[in-house]
Amino acid sequence: MRVLVVGSGGREHALVWKIAQSKKVGKIFCAPGNGGIKELAEIVNIKADDIDALLNFAKENKIDLTVAGPEVPLVKGIVDRFTEEGLRIFGPTKELAMLEGSKVFSKETMKRFGAPTADFKVFTDAAKAKEYLRKKGAPIVVKADGLAAGKGVVVAKTIEEAEDAIESMLVKKIFGSAGEKIILEDCLEGEEASILVFSDGKNIVPLVSSQDHKRIFDNDKGLNTGGMGVYSPAPVVSGEIFDEIIESSFRPIIDGFSKEGKFYKGVLYGGLMITKDGPMLLEFNVRFGDPETQAILPRLKSDLVDALTACIDGTLDKIDIQWDERPCLCVVLASGGYPGSYEKHKEIIGLIDVKKWEDVIVFHAGTAFEDGKIFTSGGRVLGVTGMGRDIKQAKLNAYSAIDRIKFKNMQYRKDIGDRAIKRLADSV
Ligand code: AMP
Ligand code: GLY
Repeated sequence: MRVLVVGSGGREHALVWKIAQSKKVGKIFCAPGNGGIKELAEIVNIKADDIDALLNFAKENKIDLTVAGPEVPLVKGIVDRFTEEGLRIFGPTKELAMLEGSKVFSKETMKRFGAPTADFKVFTDAAKAKEYLRKKGAPIVVKADGLAAGKGVVVAKTIEEAEDAIESMLVKKIFGSAGEKIILEDCLEGEEASILVFSDGKNIVPLVSSQDHKRIFDNDKGLNTGGMGVYSPAPVVSGEIFDEIIESSFRPIIDGFSKEGKFYKGVLYGGLMITKDGPMLLEFNVRFGDPETQAILPRLKSDLVDALTACIDGTLDKIDIQWDERPCLCVVLASGGYPGSYEKHKEIIGLIDVKKWEDVIVFHAGTAFEDGKIFTSGGRVLGVTGMGRDIKQAKLNAYSAIDRIKFKNMQYRKDIGDRAIKRLADSV
């Protein structure tokens, strides 16, 4: 089998790494890939959102299966285009990818199918939004409707902050057309978790739970990022709560669409807040999470390709997916300055030292390979991943490997795993 993975982050490295373990796979291509993916796949110099070029490449190179990592090609309709040409591709159609492409569509879908989520209202007019804000008060959450590269959500602690966000999105149009509509949403309190499920349109198979760490600094301080570290499982969604989430937040969505003749195929990622009144959906993503995937796939014992193809073929009920019980923890090493501006092209050393370590995998994100060396080329650079008999051991394995890896201005969080360790200690 010849597989094409689209994307260039840590998520795509984890996907390529896991796909490469499948006996069914003869060759993997990755567009545009990164310095680490290069060791496992042939790098193709096509951008992740250049659907015409990806389609031509897949046809010319007789690709049997394509997996799109990021949301942009999915929201642009890569699945529809490939499917029309008879090519097999993992992911939802453009219509259902709007669960991520439009927060208004997503929230209205949750409401329509009865999945628990915070109360909200949609606005296109700033004066009306502000009037509602004054009635509701703060804290309140202001969200741009469209894709805004993770920057479109403002959790406003004061009315002034919320007014500024409304003004920036609806009047100054800082997100362009992505901010033509906004949502004002009740602010929820609790601990967040990421739950991902495979779906073939009818059947649902959950992946193991995980918890991302979105803020740049320890103790959730500083700006939001793409994600600075993750562990799996997330103790906050133990047994019963996990099952409740699948039944209340995923089943109604997949079933609701299927009754309308729309079949969600791919992975559906729910960002949830575990509140004192139960789990509530914050958002849906229509792809694997980054960095969640880096802590989830090392725990997958089964063949990932079987799961991906079962989603496409509608045969998820026929496969058995096995998971490693051991926890996994991934710490993101980022360029100094990220998520603001940062310098690139710093040489990374120490990667060879940890390559042979048991229970440690280093996934590359913003890296480039030049003259036999690896350099930084992005904000999030590496995802250093450890497994262990418990979360403490997984943490120790990841951070011991980090001690060997260096590049100029490297920054990372030191507290990934601490919340889980504390929760587990409190519960005994
Ligand atoms: P979203 O893209 O909708 O997941 O929002 C990004 C982040 O904003 C989430 O991970 C939460 O930390 C926060 N957030 C979103 N919606 C809410 C809400 N209703 N209450 C509190 N925090 C929220
Ligand atoms: N880790 C957050 C995301 O993938 O959107």
